[in-house]
Amino acid sequence: MTSIQEKIIALKHKKNALILAHFYQTMDIQEIADHVGDSFELAKCAQTAQQSTIVLCGVRFMAESAKILNPAKTVLLPAQDAGCSMADMITPEQVKRLRAEHPDAAVMCYVNSSAAVKAESDICCTSSSAVRIARSLPQKRIIFIPDQNLGAYVASQVPEKEFFFFQGFCPIHHAVTPQEVMEAKKAHPKALVLVHPECKIEVQERADFVGSTAAILNYVQNSPNKEFIIGTEVGIVQRIRKTMPQKSAYLLSDRMICLNMKKASIEDVLYCLKHGVYEIDLPQAEMKGAYQSLARMVSMQ
Ligand code: 13P
Ligand code: SF4
Repeated sequence: MTSIQEKIIALKHKKNALILAHFYQTMDIQEIADHVGDSFELAKCAQTAQQSTIVLCGVRFMAESAKILNPAKTVLLPAQDAGCSMADMITPEQVKRLRAEHPDAAVMCYVNSSAAVKAESDICCTSSSAVRIARSLPQKRIIFIPDQNLGAYVASQVPEKEFFFFQGFCPIHHAVTPQEVMEAKKAHPKALVLVHPECKIEVQERADFVGSTAAILNYVQNSPNKEFIIGTEVGIVQRIRKTMPQKSAYLLSDRMICLNMKKASIEDVLYCLKHGVYEIDLPQAEMKGAYQSLARMVSMQ
């Protein structure tokens, strides 16, 4: 452990803080976190946190979800400008318009969205819970926002329902092509291809497994196979190399780096704990509306 990591651990106890980190964070941040997980796991941990402060090492929508699910806590985001390009693609007005076009449909909202957009939705989902939630909704028609690719994946798994999509996407996952899958397979013929559902459907169709970040890590852990081509952010490859050294992981495309997720450094985490920045503060009306959608998601485990 480095001296800066030791300082963070000491300060975390002194300040009664819980540190949550997403799998896309750098390894030195993952090492000092109390929990490392996918979006769904982080939301659940935040909801039941006992500490007075939650430091969310991830992007803004994750820290907002923590605040909404556990409003009495101080929630801090170490990099103030760590946003999510997909979350920025949709506005509450666009959700209202879609609802007006399909009044009998439920609005299902991927957590990669703003609190204001969640407040206009009926229920939230993450990539690990989306299929289960779509199946269990009473409505036959579902407006899926904002990710068209996760939406297409859910629709392929839940053919009994009718879906309407918003055309949002994650620039990092959406940019991967079927051609790159073929090239990676050629370079590593023994490897299985594991991709995130934010990849295009043509890429998902060429994969051996489609799942959330946590599901991909579980798959690698439990598979007898030794080699894997990873179609999600580079943080997952780094985690496999660190925690499962007996396995080989190759990044599907060297462009799969989320710069927003890499905005916070270990120094920023220390600064954040020392100075109590950057605190998440949301308008009451957004908090109330978004709480309904997020709490419904967490209760449907
Ligand atoms: P997970 O819920 O799978 O962790 O995904 C979050 C994300 O932002 C993927 O790009
Ligand atoms: Fe958002 Fe894409 Fe980064 Fe995930 S990888 S946080 S969807 S920009």
